[in-house]
Amino acid sequence: MPTVFVTGANRGLGFEHVKQYAHKGWKIIACARNPDQADQLLDLQNKYGESFIIEQLDVTNHDSIDNLANNYQGMAIDVLINNAGILGPEGMPGAMEYQKIDNMDYEIWRTIIEVNLLSPFKVATAFHDHIASSKKKILVMMSSDLGSVAQNNFGGLYPYRASKSGLNIIAKGMASDWKDIITIALAPGWCKTYLGGDTAEVEADDSVENQQNMFETLKPENSGMFLDRFGKEVAW
Ligand SMILES: NC(=O)c1ccc[n+]([C@@H]2O[C@H](COP(=O)([O-])OP(=O)(O)OC[C@H]3O[C@@H](n4cnc5c(N)ncnc54)[C@H](OP(=O)(O)O)[C@@H]3O)[C@@H](O)[C@H]2O)c1
Repeated sequence: MPTVFVTGANRGLGFEHVKQYAHKGWKIIACARNPDQADQLLDLQNKYGESFIIEQLDVTNHDSIDNLANNYQGMAIDVLINNAGILGPEGMPGAMEYQKIDNMDYEIWRTIIEVNLLSPFKVATAFHDHIASSKKKILVMMSSDLGSVAQNNFGGLYPYRASKSGLNIIAKGMASDWKDIITIALAPGWCKTYLGGDTAEVEADDSVENQQNMFETLKPENSGMFLDRFGKEVAW
């Protein structure tokens, strides 16, 4: 069966991915910052046994990323989902307020860039060979409609938007540099998660179901595209 590697897998979209792929019989490598507290992941591990691996990974720790890539040397990873991301600091409400043109928290901006932009680049480069040696060869950079320049008609959220726009150009660049894998930037829709909030439009499990169906349709010519969960191109 294929193997999937997901960062930030303990809740939200990342958790839904490992849950639904495990249900399909895939081998899972689920990364979480604090596996001891990841009760839902531990439940899945109890259910699926040794095909469900949980790894400790804070994506800002580049040594940990390298160690993990070394530990899995020679293992093919069919789908790698660079999912871990933040809208702002955990537990600090009102992300719109401290990311405004007239009220900017630069420390928060730096943190958002570190997690949402530098870390997925590091993970992708560390695991490129694992993806390239697999059958499906899919690298997913979890972007956002908020990273679309074309759709930015209401301003605000400068750090988050900049991090996801940056992720988009990285995905496009990787598609040029790496012809041996399929790299996409993905807009999952506005989903009900901790990050998306309760008023979001899409249930997390529905979005992930659509995403996984879409991944199965990807072809090499899709590499370098910015796609929504249905496989439709999103304007850059
Ligand atoms: N929900 C939406 O509407 C929406 C829309 C567009 C794009 N996205 C993107 O989708 C991805 C997942 O978002 P979500 O909605 O599922 O958010 P979420 O429920 O807040 O989950 C985010 C996940 O990222 C992890 N994470 C954060 N910082 C990390 C770090 N330094 N190292 C490792 N893991 C870290 C979190 O782990 P902890 O539990 O340890 O904090 C958590 O598992 C993000 O990249 C987000 O930008 C979401």
